[in-house]
Amino acid sequence: MAVKELTVLVACSLIACATSDEFFTSTDKISQLFGEEKFLLATFSLYIDAEEEIVKRMKRDLLLLQLGTYLDPVDPEEIKDPVAALKLLIRLRAEWLSIEEYTQKSLYKDNVYQILLEYAQIPQIEDLEGAALGLISLQELYKLYPHNITKETSLNADEAYIVGLIAFRQNKFQHAFLWFLYSLDRLTEYSAITEKELLRYLSDSAYHFGSLPVAMYFGQRLLNLDPTNDEVKVLLNLYRLLRFQRTSNPDIFTLNTQSSKYETLCRGEIDERTSKRQRALSCRYSTGGGNPRLMYAPVKEEVEWDEPRIIRYHDIISDREIEILKNISRPLLSRSETKGGVSKIRTSQSVFLKDDNTVVARVNQRIADITGLSMKSAEGLHVQNYGIGGKYEPHYDEWDDENGRIATFLIYMSDVEIGGSTVFPKVGVSLKPKQGSAVFWYNLRKNGNVDLNTEHAGCPVFRGNKWVANKWIHEFGQEFRRPCSLSYSE
Ligand SMILES: *[C@@H]1O[C@H](CO)[C@@H](O)[C@H](O)[C@H]1NC(C)=O
Ligand SMILES: *[C@@H]1O[C@H](CO)[C@@H](O)[C@H](O)[C@H]1NC(C)=O
Repeated sequence: MAVKELTVLVACSLIACATSDEFFTSTDKISQLFGEEKFLLATFSLYIDAEEEIVKRMKRDLLLLQLGTYLDPVDPEEIKDPVAALKLLIRLRAEWLSIEEYTQKSLYKDNVYQILLEYAQIPQIEDLEGAALGLISLQELYKLYPHNITKETSLNADEAYIVGLIAFRQNKFQHAFLWFLYSLDRLTEYSAITEKELLRYLSDSAYHFGSLPVAMYFGQRLLNLDPTNDEVKVLLNLYRLLRFQRTSNPDIFTLNTQSSKYETLCRGEIDERTSKRQRALSCRYSTGGGNPRLMYAPVKEEVEWDEPRIIRYHDIISDREIEILKNISRPLLSRSETKGGVSKIRTSQSVFLKDDNTVVARVNQRIADITGLSMKSAEGLHVQNYGIGGKYEPHYDEWDDENGRIATFLIYMSDVEIGGSTVFPKVGVSLKPKQGSAVFWYNLRKNGNVDLNTEHAGCPVFRGNKWVANKWIHEFGQEFRRPCSLSYSE
């Protein structure tokens, strides 16, 4: 082994140096330098061998990494499966870390590779956390176990452990437990995570969830594996004591089935009366009340709900216009905010587009034509793309009391395979995204008060890619177009 020989040589050389401090005063000593020179060259040769070993290892690692990219999709539009997307994030981060470690030792001047790596847009820890939490919020909403959600793309023991750990840190102990269990099932000799670590986490999550018998079961398994682990002995004794005091023992293996109205609607379980009422509503062609621009190309209008009135307009934007809007928006997207700033209740990225682009201007004009409202005090077109489990929990669009968002025009720029519906929990309406269509409703009643029935939410995207564009239309400028009313009931 090259490295071993090198160590021996270095050691010898140090001893030799220690005993001979002067050369020039003795020819005998000078002749020793020939030996020294041989040693130097041999050392250099060994060094090169060692470097070659590292290059071989790097080449092997590169092959493995390339194999990984070959097996998983890379086109962002194709990343429809949240598990595949999470896997890609985890993989990219691991790749970056290993390349960074190798190139740190680069012999090149100024280490250009490190500088190049710094420019790479690599997922940060927060991205992994966000993606894993998105996955968990999908599981919560759609009542999915790890095996349900990984049907198409499975996770290995290490990846599942990461999801479990992130759930654990967010105090989502049941989901953490289920992911650790999934990880334990997939443990192999190549896994970085160990059985002992997983057993400990399984026991801890069960304890925090309140399921003491399960905590004890996994604690005992850990103790069998690691009989000298005193900490586990203490914990087991504690659990035994606590068990007599606790009366409840929630079932950690089974997800609860309770849901809010919002969750039920998102799952598409609309109550029968609501869907009948929805079907009874009408569909017709509209010219925006005789707008000349719509006379020859009337828009197809469908009443999705009567109270509050929610109207769907079909085919109001072409695929090409959509592509252009996406293209303009992509480089500008940043995390969407709520009234209080960035928040877990709204997970998407968005941008307000300026009106000076021709496509944006055309879309704005069309909205004005269809709704008959003035765009003077409207906000810029707000393009939004949702991430893994991306959602916007129930909220009102109205923020401002002075010049409120009188109405919302929501354009769907993509279909979403599963999830991503716009739902109105107060009235039980669920609207499925359909590319090229838009929905429109008034947030304010004619008397200026917020219509409480317009509370709505964007359901988590389960499969697919959700793009929307919002136009929030404000009160100012609508005085003659939508006259206000002093009536309490209007
Ligand atoms: C998840 O898996 C369980 C058990 O295999 C099954 O009963 C359930 O229907 C699945 N749920 C979904 C939403 O697919
Ligand atoms: C949008 O961007 C893609 C990728 O850069 C490009 O191929 C496509 O032609 C663009 N589409 C339009 C309509 O500009």
